[in-house]
Amino acid sequence: MNENTKAIIKATAPIIKKHGEEITTVMYKFLFLNHPEAKDLFKNAQADQYKKLANMVYAYAENIDKLEVLGKGIEKVAHLHVNTKIEPKHYPWVGESLLLAIKEVLGDGATPEVMDAWKEAYFFLADVFINKEKEIYTDKAAV
Ligand code: HEM
Repeated sequence: MNENTKAIIKATAPIIKKHGEEITTVMYKFLFLNHPEAKDLFKNAQADQYKKLANMVYAYAENIDKLEVLGKGIEKVAHLHVNTKIEPKHYPWVGESLLLAIKEVLGDGATPEVMDAWKEAYFFLADVFINKEKEIYTDKAAV
């Protein structure tokens, strides 16, 4: 991720956070509308876990220049994801839905630069999770 992307993400983090509830709601609307199969994955999730996913994305935005802060949180969530059988193919579903939600909620603020930066940043984080989860799935298979 280049420095310009990081700067844009950091600059938009406060506004994304301010509209957090709305972005979260819109994100799940798109996720379940465009990928109804995702509903099954969330059937045992607590109501507040919906918010935690989006909150982590904002925490990520705020700490984009010091990602080590998120290490422990990522580890914990990766284990939860494995227990829920999240797979790499699910990440684009959430990514696409999150980007549509950011675009809808930010309106004029969602310039092409902002949208490109968020796309790059989301998929960078998705890769971190996918790699971590691959390790956990492999460890489990070895037991
Ligand atoms: C970079 C993207 C993602 C981030 C930042 C993220 C973050 C989180 C967080 C913070 C939690 C709550 C953990 C807790 O309870 O403390 C969570 C749980 C969960 N996530 Fe993710 N997540 C991501 C991608 C995905 C994807 C792609 C799916 C599937 C479509 C997914 C499905 C779930 C489910 C079902 C739970 C609830 C697990 C349970 O039943 O306890 N997440 N995620």
